Amino acid sequence: MTNRELILEAKEAREHAYAPYSHFRVGAALLTKSGKVFKGCNIENAAYSPTNCAERTAFFRAVYEGEREFEKIAVVGGAEGTDADQTCAPCGVCRQVMMEFCNPETFQIVLADGKDHELQLTLKELLPYGFGPENLN
Ligand code: THU
Repeated sequence: MTNRELILEAKEAREHAYAPYSHFRVGAALLTKSGKVFKGCNIENAAYSPTNCAERTAFFRAVYEGEREFEKIAVVGGAEGTDADQTCAPCGVCRQVMMEFCNPETFQIVLADGKDHELQLTLKELLPYGFGPENLN
């Protein structure tokens, strides 16, 4: 699947965002190595800290369905009522969740804005010297 196709899925996922507090809406589309796409949106909470980012929603949906091997994720986020004016990078917690399931050298993170500018990075670039399952061996 091309980056562009995955970005379109992330844009659709953004429509599902529940963001009544920040009014910042994010969508993510996660591609498994088996070729399936799992989508996620941010889901906020009145107590704020239970908020789940779009990326983690996508990962948790996929893992629940038995998927453990991932190729890339596309993320599109921006203020409500806008078309996402700039790229939106995953927060530190989401990078750590990616570290649990993905090879940092090969897993690709595709950041896109509403004008279809895109930036592709590896997990290692976003989380250098990360701590993962290998560290516990
Ligand atoms: N958020 C995401 O869903 N993903 C990101 O990559 C960055 C931030 C959400 C969390 C919160 O609901 C809102 O965006 C503002 O931080």
